[in-house]
Amino acid sequence: MANITERQIIDALRNVIEPDLQRDLISLNMVKDIKINGADVAFTVVLTTPACPLKDLIKNACVNAIKHFVKEAKNIEVNMTATVTTTNPLAAQASNNPLGRVKNTIAVASGKGGVGKSTVATNLAVALAKTGAKVGLIDADIYGPSIPTMFGLKNEKPDMIGKTLVPIEKYGVKLISIGFLVDQKTAVVWRGPMVSSALRQFMTDVVWNDLDYLLFDLPPGTGDIQLTLSQAVPLTGAVVVTTPQDVALADVIKAVAMFEQLKVPILGVVENMSYYQLPDGGKEYIFGDGGGARMAAEYKIPFLGEMPLSKDVRLGGDEGVPIVIRNPESVQAKLFMETAEKLAQQIAIRNAGVGAQKVEIEI
Ligand SMILES: Nc1ncnc2c1ncn2[C@@H]1O[C@H](COP(=O)(O)OP(=O)(O)O)[C@@H](O)[C@H]1O
Ligand SMILES: [Mg+2]
Repeated sequence: MANITERQIIDALRNVIEPDLQRDLISLNMVKDIKINGADVAFTVVLTTPACPLKDLIKNACVNAIKHFVKEAKNIEVNMTATVTTTNPLAAQASNNPLGRVKNTIAVASGKGGVGKSTVATNLAVALAKTGAKVGLIDADIYGPSIPTMFGLKNEKPDMIGKTLVPIEKYGVKLISIGFLVDQKTAVVWRGPMVSSALRQFMTDVVWNDLDYLLFDLPPGTGDIQLTLSQAVPLTGAVVVTTPQDVALADVIKAVAMFEQLKVPILGVVENMSYYQLPDGGKEYIFGDGGGARMAAEYKIPFLGEMPLSKDVRLGGDEGVPIVIRNPESVQAKLFMETAEKLAQQIAIRNAGVGAQKVEIEI
C-alpha cells in the first residue's frame, strides 16, 4: 500500500470550503501541523474565532473530505483551535498604544435607554470569554454605569501600576467602569469634555494587554460619548440593541444612521425582551413579533438574535451573576451563547473583507 503524503491531505482539504469566508481551508491558510503515521492522519484547523458556530460542521467536512479523497487513511484526527483575526490599524503601533493589542473593538449601542443594552453587553462579553476568547468590557455609560452591579463588583477598586489602571477581571472578562473610580453623584454633574476625557483614559491609561474582543457598553442615544468613541477608536463595528416596540425600533434606526455617518460598520441587531416564555414552552409576543428581524432585513443588517423577557435574566443583572454563569443550561443562556457566536462570526466575516462592503474607518 502506498504511503499517504502531505500533498494528498492538502489536496483533499482544498475541497472543504469555509462557509462564511467562501474559500477553501488551504487557501485561507487554516490548516496546520499535518502529521501522517501509516494510516493515521492528524492535523489542526485554525478557526477565525473560538466562538465559531460552524466548528462542528467544518470538522465533519474535513473528516469526510479525507475519507473521500484519501481512501488509505484510517484514523483521522482533526484538532480545532482558533486565532481571532483583526483589521485594527493600531496594531502596527502596539508597543505604544494600549489599543494596538486589542484585535476587535465593538460598541454595544441603542437608540433608547432601558432596552437591556448593559444586560446584553454583559452576557455577550461573558459568553465570548466562555468560548475561550480574551475579552474586555468598557463601561462607557459614564452618567449611568451599570457594569459594577451586573458583575457584582459594586465596592471594588482597580489596582494602579504607576499611572495606569489594571482592569478588574470577573467571569473571565477584564472590566473598567467609572463606577469603580468615582461615586455616581460625582460623575452625574460632569460636563461633556470631562466625560469624553474619562472615556479616552479608559482606552489610553488602562493595561488591556492582548484582547480578542473589547466591548463598549454605551449610554443610550446618539450623543457625545458615541462621537468621542468613534473618533478615538477604529471600531470594528457596532451591535445595536432594541426592544420590539415601534418607538424603540424608530430610535434604533436613528442609531444605525449615526453609525453609518461615522463610518462604523453595523455588525448586527439584537432584539431584547422580544417575547414572554410561557410555562408550556410557547412564546407570547407581547409587543408583536418579528419587528427587529424585519427592521434588520430592511436595512440589510445581520440579525443576531432575540432574547425573551425573563425574570432570571433580570435577577442575574441585579445580583451580579449574569445568566450565562448563573444558569448556563437555561434557554436564555443558550440564546446568549448563540448570539455571541453570531457576533464573532460577523466580525470574522468583516475582517476577511467578505460580503460586506469594506468601510474605511476614520481615526
Ligand atoms: N431580557 C430581559 N428580561 C428581563 N429583564 C431584563 C432583560 N433585559 C434587561 N432587563 C432588565 O431591564 C432593566 C434595564 O436593562 P439594562 O441592561 O440596564 O438596559 P440599558 O443598559 O439599555 O439601559 C434592568 O433591570 C435589566 O435587568
Ligand atoms: Mg446601560
